[in-house]
Amino acid sequence: MVYQLIYVSTAICSTGDSEIADILATARRNNKASGITGLLLCHGGTFFQTLEGDQDTVTACFGSIERDSRHKDAVVLMRKAQEHRVFSQWSMGHAVPEKLSPNNRDTVISLSSLAKDLAAAPESQRHEASMLAASFVRGFREFDQI
Ligand SMILES: Cc1cc2nc3c(=O)[nH]c(=O)nc-3n(C[C@H](O)[C@H](O)[C@H](O)COP(=O)(O)O)c2cc1C
Repeated sequence: MVYQLIYVSTAICSTGDSEIADILATARRNNKASGITGLLLCHGGTFFQTLEGDQDTVTACFGSIERDSRHKDAVVLMRKAQEHRVFSQWSMGHAVPEKLSPNNRDTVISLSSLAKDLAAAPESQRHEASMLAASFVRGFREFDQI
């Protein structure tokens, strides 16, 4: 079994190539050492990340991520034990929405609009975002794009 955590957050930093490259460099270095795999997406100022690994390790890693001043209002959409890793080849994959299939791109766009002010949103909106995120991750097959 593997523990999977999916969250969304609002970027405070600019989300240009060099900021994303900095985040990915740290994430990949640390995650390789701690056995975490996952995927990071950014669209319209919203981060969307999946972390997979040992439960305590993922929880500790998410704790550091939450305290990072480059973003705010991290909301966990799902945390759950799963049979298998989805992103086993990626210490931290990075998907660019423009390069995803139309279906997945639409999902990312819907998710980023649902994610606005999610921390203060009604439960129904969180639920919808959680369902969307879980099905996106479960069905993710575009490994050649990341
Ligand atoms: C959106 C976002 C995603 C991040 N993802 C990871 C991650 O997957 N793994 C990780 O170790 N750090 C990640 N970080 C960086 C952590 O917040 C933190 O800076 C890092 O764990 C500190 O590591 P260091 O003490 O080795 O510099 C992320 C930061 C942001 C803003």
